[in-house]
Amino acid sequence: MSAEFKPVRKAVIPVAGWGTRFLPATKAMPKEMLPIVDTPTIQYIVEEAVASGIEQICLVTSHTKKAIEDHFDRTLELEALLEKGGKTEYLEQIRAIADMAEVVSVRQKEAKGLGHAVLCAESFVGDEPFAVLLGDDVVYNEETPCTKQLIDVYNETGGSVLGVQTVPHENICKYGCVDGEKIGDRLYTVNDMIEKPSPDEAPTDVGVLGRYVITPAIFKKLRETKPGAGGEIQLTDALKALAKDEKMYAYDFIGRRYDVGDRLGFLEATVEFALRRDDLKDAFAQYLKTVC
Ligand code: UTP
Repeated sequence: MSAEFKPVRKAVIPVAGWGTRFLPATKAMPKEMLPIVDTPTIQYIVEEAVASGIEQICLVTSHTKKAIEDHFDRTLELEALLEKGGKTEYLEQIRAIADMAEVVSVRQKEAKGLGHAVLCAESFVGDEPFAVLLGDDVVYNEETPCTKQLIDVYNETGGSVLGVQTVPHENICKYGCVDGEKIGDRLYTVNDMIEKPSPDEAPTDVGVLGRYVITPAIFKKLRETKPGAGGEIQLTDALKALAKDEKMYAYDFIGRRYDVGDRLGFLEATVEFALRRDDLKDAFAQYLKTVC
């Protein structure tokens, strides 16, 4: 079987950035541990990967992100305490987090960009296609998780797939922008990409939103990629180079996406997830009515 048609079993979740947009909260705490209601952001992302059929997950971390590694480990003292107190529901909940998937971590020793973070996971990935989920992007879809949608497209096409959505024209400067042709209901070919273009230079309003399925050929491209904007090794630059050698697609995924690394995005996620919770929605909606 060629590398191209191996199943997607592994995911890389880069979480080694500094989270400067969320200071001071992120001074001593990883932004990926910011809770949406009562669950850390990173847990929603790992749950999405698992629900998409991913078997092994690699967190790309840094020395300031130990709390994330601990979150997916057992906490025997806490388990003993909960067991003694008869708090079975909590006990099951925290054990399930540790048993959810095989989670390993590698260190990105310096935050040299998203592309560099993905390159740090090369030996974990090996010669297989893999998913990338950004550690601060949450996508809500109750039926088909976003990563599963991209894996389905990969299985049909055999090419790398970028998760995209059409964004307001004035906001395209916040994203990687896809230049390509629409070839299906939600599917585009990728001919080129521009990282954070000004609205004037953007060829489309199709923005890349934190989810990818990528062939292992990306690693050679990442090694060849020179530091770009901000001195960082950009994943977009390596994907651009890969799109010249291999077919690449962009899929307009179905789901509500939140940029939890942004203050407003975090607040939107908090409010909307709380309103989806059976135990909170009535009281919270009532409260929102009184304050708005
Ligand atoms: P962002 O650019 O959103 O994250 O990167 P950041 O750099 O932490 O945030 P700001 O802009 O300073 O607020 C997207 C994802 O890539 C990871 C981040 O942790 C985030 O999950 N990342 C980014 C790395 O793992 N390493 C890097 O060198 C850069």
